[in-house]
This record gives sequence, structure tokens and C-alpha cells, in this order.
Amino acid sequence: MPDTVIRTMGEDGVLALRLNRPDKKNALSLEMYAALSDGLRAAAEDGAVRAVLLGGGADFTAGNDIADFAADTAAGGQGTLRTSAALDFLEVMVGFPKPVVAAVRGVAIGIGTTMLLHCDAAVASRTARLQMPFTRLGIVPEAGSSLLLAARIGRAAADWMLLSGDAVDGAEAARCGLVTRAVDDAEVEAAAAAVAAQLAALPPGAVGETKRLLRAPHAAALAEAMRRERAAISERLRSAEAQAIFAAFLDRKG
Ligand code: COA
Repeated sequence: MPDTVIRTMGEDGVLALRLNRPDKKNALSLEMYAALSDGLRAAAEDGAVRAVLLGGGADFTAGNDIADFAADTAAGGQGTLRTSAALDFLEVMVGFPKPVVAAVRGVAIGIGTTMLLHCDAAVASRTARLQMPFTRLGIVPEAGSSLLLAARIGRAAADWMLLSGDAVDGAEAARCGLVTRAVDDAEVEAAAAAVAAQLAALPPGAVGETKRLLRAPHAAALAEAMRRERAAISERLRSAEAQAIFAAFLDRKG
């Protein structure tokens, strides 16, 4: 079976972590979360890695694998699978000390959008679809998005995106500051690689310290928001409301 996360180290000090599950639009399986966490942990320790490039391919990610959402609690579970993989990945992202740049094409759904709040830059296709359909799935915001999204794009826009689950395209995402820049679809990977290389070429001590300073003012509030979200997600995943929606998604082609 091919690797679902492909690591490639470039001579410019940029480590690319490329999702490789195209038939599922890069929906994130437990194995993929674990591979991403491993890749980031290794990158944090490796002095040769100056920046990380995340994404690439026709779709950024269609979000958490809905089969895992459903299985997580099917046996009256506690959201443990999700806790051990997705939440571990988010913790690694939050604490990651080097620049992370996302290349966003196709869909960026759920955690596909919320993880951008933990990246240092994101280049999106003008036609990419960014969406956090948590309420439509019977669940609630994650990854600190209940706090960070408003700081990024303004309270009214953030509230609307999270309450309604409406999508924005990459062009709109760049206008409102959700991503750094929107470019033509064919240019996304090169443009994101150039941004990562630009950051990788800067003095790493200054870049790391700047990232730390930029995050420090929000760190305690972010930890608290993620703790609140975690409790709510565990409860929502177990709800009949959410389970029925997951089952309908998984059965829709059956
Ligand atoms: N979990 C599991 N499988 C997923 C998935 C997800 N989050 N997103 C897409 N897939 C699978 C589909 O089931 C389908 O698999 P199949 O070919 O074996 O049936 C395949 O990926 C392609 O998706 P499909 O729905 O056929 O493509 P589309 O272009 O019509 O729609 C999406 C793409 C992303 C809009 C749609 O798949 C979707 O809404 N996915 C769910 C997104 C989501 O809610 N994520 C969780 C957020 S918290």
C-alpha cells in the first residue's frame, strides 16, 4: 500500500509533508494523523529542517475521515481514537517551533481549514473550497477555531462560517485573511514552495523566536478553548444527532 503521507526533504531546508489519499480527497485517517505528527516531531528535532510545506495534490483534505468519527463512538466509546490521533496532531501543530506553510487546492474541509489557523502562511487556489461544516455534521468547532478564527477574519465572519457551515472560495479566503494569498490553481504548489523557501532562508533563531512571540499572547486562551472544544466534541460525537448524520454520509452511495 502506498504511503498516505509522503515526506520529502528539499535542499532549501523545506520538508514537504504531502497527503496521499487522493481517492478519498485526502480525508485524514488515524494513520495519516499519526504520520503527520511523527513527521512534525522529527522535523522539530532536525536542524536541517527550516520550514515545513504541508499539502499539495488536487485536494488539501476533506477533513477527518467520517468513518472514524462514526467508529469512534459506535461501541459507546469515548472519542478515544480521535483523541489519540487527531488531537495529538493538533497539539503537535500548536507547539511546532518552525514555520509551516500550507498549499491548499481543491477542498479544505473541517480540520482542513482549522489547521490553517496553526500554519504560518497558506497559499490557496482561487477556486479552493474552505469550509467548516461542523454544525451540519452535528458536531462543534475544533482546533481552537472557536477562538482563533474570529481573531483572524473578524467576529461576524467567523461566527457565520462556524454557525452556518457555509464555504468560502480561496479568493474570498485571501480577502478576509483566512489564507495569506490566493493564486491560480496551477500555481499553488510552486507559490507555496517559494513562500516556504523564503522563510527557510531566514536566520532560523530569529524566525523561531518570532513565531514564539507571535503565539505567546494567545497560548493560554488557546489551550483553554481547545479544552472546552474537546469536551464538547466528545459529547457531540456520542450524540444520536451526529451519529445519524455520519451514517447517512457513509450510506449515501450504498
Ligand atoms: N471521510 C471519509 N470519506 C470521505 C470524506 C471524509 N471526510 N470526504 C470524502 N470522502 C470520500 C467519499 O466517501 C468518496 O469515497 P468513495 O469514492 O469510496 O465513495 C470519495 O472520498 C470522494 O468523495 P465524493 O463525495 O465522491 O466527492 P465529491 O466531489 O462529490 O464531494 C466532498 C467532495 C469533500 C464535498 C464530499 O466528499 C464531502 O462532503 N465530504 C465530507 C467532508 C466532511 O464533512 N468532512 C469532515 C469535516 S469535520
